[in-house]
Amino acid sequence: MDKGLKLDMRFLKGFVADSDLADIMTEVERAHSFLEKRSGEGNEFLGWMDLPKDMDDALLSDIERTAGKLTGNSDAVIFIGIGGSYLGARAVIEALVPETINKKVFFAGNNLSGDYICPLLEKLKGSDISVNVISKSGTTTEPAIAFRLVEEFLKEKYGSSGFADRVVCTTDKAKGALKAMADKKGFKSFVIPADVGGRFSVLTPVGLLPAACAGVNVRELIAGAKEERARTLSCDLDENPSYRYAAARNILYRKGKRIEVFSNFDSRLHYIGEWWKQLFGESEGKAARSIYPASCDFTTDLHSMGQLMQQGERNLLETFLVIEKEDGTCEIPRDEEDLDGLNYLAGKQLDYVNKKAYEATCEAHFEGGVPNFTVLLSERSAYCLGRLFYFFEKAVALSAYLQGVNPFDQPGVDAYKNKMFKLLGKPGV
Ligand code: PA5
Repeated sequence: MDKGLKLDMRFLKGFVADSDLADIMTEVERAHSFLEKRSGEGNEFLGWMDLPKDMDDALLSDIERTAGKLTGNSDAVIFIGIGGSYLGARAVIEALVPETINKKVFFAGNNLSGDYICPLLEKLKGSDISVNVISKSGTTTEPAIAFRLVEEFLKEKYGSSGFADRVVCTTDKAKGALKAMADKKGFKSFVIPADVGGRFSVLTPVGLLPAACAGVNVRELIAGAKEERARTLSCDLDENPSYRYAAARNILYRKGKRIEVFSNFDSRLHYIGEWWKQLFGESEGKAARSIYPASCDFTTDLHSMGQLMQQGERNLLETFLVIEKEDGTCEIPRDEEDLDGLNYLAGKQLDYVNKKAYEATCEAHFEGGVPNFTVLLSERSAYCLGRLFYFFEKAVALSAYLQGVNPFDQPGVDAYKNKMFKLLGKPGV
């Protein structure tokens, strides 16, 4: 397989027929023209489509320089953000950077639990730290509170004149409280383009600066996304795997598959699943019709959710994410006594056993009535992740239009916020 991404749809046989794909083609063409002609609902948020192609070299150099500075003068860097201002960055770092290195990277502001941020700051008391606070609106409660706590911590440690040099903001060009703070306090800032929504922003400074701080080659991420963009320009389902995936999952939805489980066989891909859930959940979960995006970490969850997936209500479809060539080597040793009966695996790599578990699960779930896709990455690399991010972004945009909803808004999230602000007595609410 070439370096890249492949979509395997073999295990949809009997669930999605060629005639189903032919029948949905008129809708695909219409949705495609919404994207290409920028004429669909939410078209003011299509900036992600050309981002990889138009990426400014000077911006990438600035990101690399800033990452060098943040990591050079700090033992740890804290990234503050939530939702689209958090999940992509975490997904890249967890997938690509071994734990020993990413121990220098911390995330905060993605929940309101005092049990997390206060102990984190306590733990980092003796360390030099820097912070990158990420918020497009600049007004989101969770990161705003986290930043207030971290800012106070920095001021105490470095003094009110010295701390600003350790803060980088990633926010809107002109709007929001964070932008106003950055201007007033002299924080370095990066811009989130106005036409790129939070969950589509991983390939902007939102995801790129944290990734660069963790040592990821961000130019490779962009190169992969650029390659995938080129592949997804056509409306032809054979040439555009993003559209093929989007079309087939909509066909399955119409046949009663209401839940899609995104499954990996590699715990380092867990946060790719979290990113994917946000992308699909927030983009499609509208108008009382949507596929519920769920995720599993296998083989761990085969020992918990595996039963339901095999024999529970048959309203599931599944998408596996698999890396073809693994770099880790862990050989199973021979044991003279063989009391555990495992000598039949002696000399085999653990990854080999894991791949067999994946193949077996694919087949068993299919035979149990769960049609499944596999997205195969040829290797664990920034390039392949860039392809993956773009693949799913294009797919969800088309898929939401096929469902008849605006992929780029999220009006529903305000419901709990308004109630919470009332309960908290926020002025003006
Ligand atoms: O996709 C989205 O728009 C949201 O998930 C946002 O990313 C999230 O709510 C954080 O918003 P902000 O970046 O404005 O703090």
